[in-house]
Amino acid sequence: MTPLPDPDDPAALLARMRALIARGEAESALAIARDAIAGAPSSALVRAIGHHVFAEGIDGFHVDMLRDEARTAAYAGAIARLAPGRRVLDIGTGSGLLALLAARAGAHHVYACEADSRLALTAREIVAANGLADRVTVLPLHSDELDRDAHLGGGVDLVLSELFSQDLLGEGVLRTLADVRARLCLPGARFLPARAAIRVALADFAGSPPTLGEVAGCDLGPFNRHAPAQEPLRQGRRDCALRSAPADLFALACDGASPREARARRPLASTGGRVTGLVQWIRFETAPGLVYENAPAPGAESSHWVLVHHRLPRPIATAPGDLVPVHGWYSDETLLVWCGD
Ligand SMILES: C[S@@+](CC[C@H](N)C(=O)[O-])C[C@H]1O[C@@H](n2cnc3c(N)ncnc32)[C@H](O)[C@@H]1O
Repeated sequence: MTPLPDPDDPAALLARMRALIARGEAESALAIARDAIAGAPSSALVRAIGHHVFAEGIDGFHVDMLRDEARTAAYAGAIARLAPGRRVLDIGTGSGLLALLAARAGAHHVYACEADSRLALTAREIVAANGLADRVTVLPLHSDELDRDAHLGGGVDLVLSELFSQDLLGEGVLRTLADVRARLCLPGARFLPARAAIRVALADFAGSPPTLGEVAGCDLGPFNRHAPAQEPLRQGRRDCALRSAPADLFALACDGASPREARARRPLASTGGRVTGLVQWIRFETAPGLVYENAPAPGAESSHWVLVHHRLPRPIATAPGDLVPVHGWYSDETLLVWCGD
């Protein structure tokens, strides 16, 4: 057995824990952190290392996402309708929340996979603390690594997932669902959410573009090619006015059978006034009538998903009824959106 790292050598403790986590051995990393803290109870540095290693690289959205009550409500309502009696796979369980809701709603059994071994360890602890360890099996695996017989008792008939990024596709939802549908599902399996859309509207955004010019007397203009092509906006911002009705740029079924690449052109009729670009957000339906949408709503309680402003090279003046062509193209997790021909 390898000796414990010396608590007086924080760099060694950090390196050892990181190496275990990189190998997917979060449980051993946690044991080492606990032993190191027990061995040096007054060392704030050892405690800080323990926390750091369990937080680094975990997407910062998790806590805000779990506090997004509209998101939870959209899932909880649909899960209560669809989960009873079903064999459920929750892809990317994170904290285990959706798996717990499914088990509580009366699922026959829930298999909850999570690619990050640290989150899987925590999800297992949360499932046990909620008294559902006999109904939920947490698998510290990426869905690509799942085997229908070895891990899922022969297959599932309800697939739960929330793998949506701000542009819907950035977390690889299309590829993941296609693979799960092909390899892990029983005939007639249901998917929750059922469908989703990438929504767009023309917009007048008063914020200034995040571009570089002169800095300390030096021209840094060429660096603008590395600036993000999209500007994130909070849902409730008051300085973003819509200049057209919202439209679906892409409407997708979330059953693993949606095309993995597509192109669209949608002319949007301006309501008139200055247009700085277009704003994009997401909408999904977990079950008929249960919809989540983070449409721009000045002053609204913000969704944890940001909206995205795609800026035109220069603002344009429009009259009511002017048509502005909006284009989109996606391929798996890459979405490109632009305005004008
Ligand atoms: C957006 S979070 C959602 C967490 C949880 N399902 C919820 O709704 O509260 C996505 C989680 O899925 C995990 N993940 C993403 N793709 C995965 C995959 N194909 N297999 C397993 N885990 C995945 C990520 O590590 C992350 O924890």
